[in-house]
Amino acid sequence: VLNFRRARKADIDLLFNWANDPITRQNSYNKNLIKYEDHIQWFNKQLMSANFFCYIFSNEDKAEIGQVKIQRDVDNLTATIGISVDKDHRGNGYATEMIQKTSEDFIQENPEYIILACIFMENKASLKSFLKAGYRNVKESIIENIPSFILHYSKINNAGH
Ligand SMILES: CC(C)(COP(=O)(O)OP(=O)(O)OC[C@H]1O[C@@H](n2cnc3c(N)ncnc32)[C@H](O)[C@@H]1OP(=O)(O)O)[C@@H](O)C(=O)NCCC(=O)NCCS
Repeated sequence: VLNFRRARKADIDLLFNWANDPITRQNSYNKNLIKYEDHIQWFNKQLMSANFFCYIFSNEDKAEIGQVKIQRDVDNLTATIGISVDKDHRGNGYATEMIQKTSEDFIQENPEYIILACIFMENKASLKSFLKAGYRNVKESIIENIPSFILHYSKINNAGH
């Protein structure tokens, strides 16, 4: 069983290192390495925002194993989710539980929202993790020239849990 908590200021370097993980950048629409100064500015702004839900996970050994970010858009009642698992902890199926727990937590606080996940078609581990976590309604779309799936999660998905 994994534990999670909301991110805080002291997580700034942890999140920076995870964000610049090569596979994570490769699977992101923005492939450029993130500059530390830009990260600091972005993170400090996000932490002040009520629309930013960032969760840090740890495993039974108290090792920090990854993060989930959910960004709320108040104008259209959608939110977008992103995830990464620390490279040393991949292959354990952690992502499913992380997606499930954070999506539930977010939807409980924001029951009127739909969470969207945009996943590269070739990112099979991510697709599988989101489907197993209860994401539905796969749509195919080309996003920034990359063939992608768009998955949805809402209170309706959650009702059967
Ligand atoms: C995507 C990611 C979060 C998945 O983390 P994880 O929980 O360690 O995923 P796993 O490696 O345990 O794989 C999850 C499932 O996908 C399957 N899978 C993994 N690679 C696969 C592949 N190439 N083809 C088919 N299935 C694959 C696994 O077998 C597992 O299935 P199971 O639950 O039936 O055993 C992790 O790889 C990561 O952090 N990647 C970099 C960042 C990223 O891509 N984020 C998502 C952007 S949308």
